[in-house]
Amino acid sequence: HEVMADQRGRVLLADPRGYCAGVDRAVVAVERALEIHGAPVYVRKQIVHNKHVVATLERRGAVFVDETDEVPEGSVVVFSAHGVSPAVHEEAAARQLRTIDATCPLVTKVHQEAKRFARDDYDILLIGHRGHEEVEGTSGEAPSHIQLVDGPDDVANVQVRDPEKVVWLSQTTLSVDETLTTVDQLRTRFPGLQSPPSDDICYATQNRQQAVKQMAPACDLVVVVGSTNSSNSVRLVEVALEAGARDAHLVDYAAEIDPAWLEGVSTVGVTSGASVPEVLVGEVLDWLAERGYPDVETVKAAEERLVFALPRELRPERGESA
Ligand code: F3S
Repeated sequence: HEVMADQRGRVLLADPRGYCAGVDRAVVAVERALEIHGAPVYVRKQIVHNKHVVATLERRGAVFVDETDEVPEGSVVVFSAHGVSPAVHEEAAARQLRTIDATCPLVTKVHQEAKRFARDDYDILLIGHRGHEEVEGTSGEAPSHIQLVDGPDDVANVQVRDPEKVVWLSQTTLSVDETLTTVDQLRTRFPGLQSPPSDDICYATQNRQQAVKQMAPACDLVVVVGSTNSSNSVRLVEVALEAGARDAHLVDYAAEIDPAWLEGVSTVGVTSGASVPEVLVGEVLDWLAERGYPDVETVKAAEERLVFALPRELRPERGESA
C-alpha cells in the first residue's frame, strides 16, 4: 500500500463512542461471576452484542446458551444486558438455577413503565425491532397489552381498543430520528397517544448518534466498529449516511476494512457501538495510520459519567454489625 506524500488524510474520532454504563456492568458481572463461582458460568444469550466480547469471555470459561433449559440444574446463569421476560425468571427458578441479572437498569426502567401502563389497562405500542432480545423481554412483561411497532411502515397495522388510552414506549437502542417519525405517524392516527414518562432511547444511544451526526458531514467515509446484531451499532451506520457521510460501513475488526473504501477519501470518521471495547477502535486507528491517516481529531458531543452498581447478586454482603 503506497501512500503519496500529499495524500495524508485525517481521522475524526467520535466522542462518546464504545462502552456504555450498562455494557460495562454486564461484562464485569460475568467476569466477577467467574471469579466467585469458577468456570463454567452460563450466560443466557450473548451478554452484549459483540463478537469479540463473547469470544473473550468464552475463553475464560463462560458458556453461552440460548435458553435456560440448556443450563444444568443448580448452575449459575447470567441474564444478558438486554433483559428477560418474567417467564424466563420463572423457568430459571423452576430449574433451581442461581441467577445473576445483568439487565441494564435503563432497560429495567422500560419494563417498569410497561408494567405500570398495562396495570392501568393501556394499549402499549412498543416501537422496536421485531425479534430483538430486548423487545422480547419487554413484551413479556405484559403480552396482552403490548404490540410491537417495527418502524414507520408498521404504523398502518396498529389496532387499539380505545384511542384515548394508548401510550408508546420504545427499545433503548433505536435511531432517535426514525423513532420520532414513527411517533408522528402514530399520533396522526391516534391524537390521544401518550408519551413515555421519560426517554426510553437511552443516553448512550443518543450521545453516540449525536457525535456521529456532528462529524458525518465532514466525512468521506465513516467506519463504525460493532457487530451486525448490535442494534445501536447498526443505527450508527444509518445515522452517518443520513447526516451526510459519503460512505459508511460496520466492521467487527480492523481486518474487515476494505482498502478500496479509502479511494479518494481524505477524511475518515471512526466510532463504535455501545458494546464495543476500546481496544478494537485502537486497532482501526492503527490500521488507518499505516495507510496514510495518522492525524486524529476528536469530535466531542457529550460528557458521560454514568456508572451503574453491579447486579445485587454480586455485591458483597453487608454485615449487620458493620
Ligand atoms: Fe443500557 Fe443503553 Fe447501554 S440501555 S446497556 S446504557 S446502550
